[in-house]
Amino acid sequence: MTDYPVDMNVRPEVASFFDPSTNTISYVVTDPETRTCAVIDSVMDIDYAAGRITHDHADQMIAHIRDKGLTLEWIIETHVHADHLSAAPYIQEALGGKIGIGAKIMVIQDTFGKIFNEGTEFQRDGSQFDALFEDGDTYRIGNMTAFAMYTPGHTPACMVHVIGNAAFVGDTLFMPDGGSARADFPGGDAGVLYDSIQKVLALPDDMRLFMCHDYGPNGRDIQWETSVAEEKAHNIHVGGGKTREEFVTFRTERDAQLDMPKLIIPSIQVNMRGGTVPRDKDGRAMLKVPLNGL
Ligand SMILES: [Fe+2]
Repeated sequence: MTDYPVDMNVRPEVASFFDPSTNTISYVVTDPETRTCAVIDSVMDIDYAAGRITHDHADQMIAHIRDKGLTLEWIIETHVHADHLSAAPYIQEALGGKIGIGAKIMVIQDTFGKIFNEGTEFQRDGSQFDALFEDGDTYRIGNMTAFAMYTPGHTPACMVHVIGNAAFVGDTLFMPDGGSARADFPGGDAGVLYDSIQKVLALPDDMRLFMCHDYGPNGRDIQWETSVAEEKAHNIHVGGGKTREEFVTFRTERDAQLDMPKLIIPSIQVNMRGGTVPRDKDGRAMLKVPLNGL
């Protein structure tokens, strides 16, 4: 297993931004010493029925960064989301920073480039992003060293980003009473997801874990922060020493009953381009709907 440079003495400030329409939590992670920061998993608003895109959620994050006088260095995507659109280029245009994602984005671009019948002008080499992370790659946010941990299973390009004592788990794990994300998208694999979750659970017990989503199961209030110790003990899908075999059986049966996320068609087309909206041959912003393609 990769030897990851964990440093629990580094304690970033974490500001959370919940998006109620997609149940996504976006983060601004700040180095208290240098006042530099990173954005994790931003959201661009879409009214899909009307084909209208707006930026209220991203504007809240931009206002936070400006109000606090922060310098934005990184705009991180934990993976190509299938349930919301990224606002990464919109935030970059306002504040700068480099957009980064897992290097396996190329697998996603190849798979969905075919499904959406994208022409040769759609590059499948990750060149829409400023940085492509491999397992264990490090990067700096001010004086803090962050690293990316390769955690496939939900998608082939998922990465967990660890910044000091805070880990941004994307869709590997949900809160203990929420369990785990589905593993049935193209390139997903329940057994591989189990293995990736074990990597997260091998981090120190008091590592803060920040979710990308929460749906408030059983009527509880929305929450997004837990710890490795809590997940190990109580996660309903993997906690209490559940085996790989138990997880794969459960996850496969559950996934077979799930509908496609409402925004998967617009989300993938935008997110596989790093958050840039596709254009038709006349340069107009335009989305496709492949019939019986997913
Ligand atoms: Fe996801």
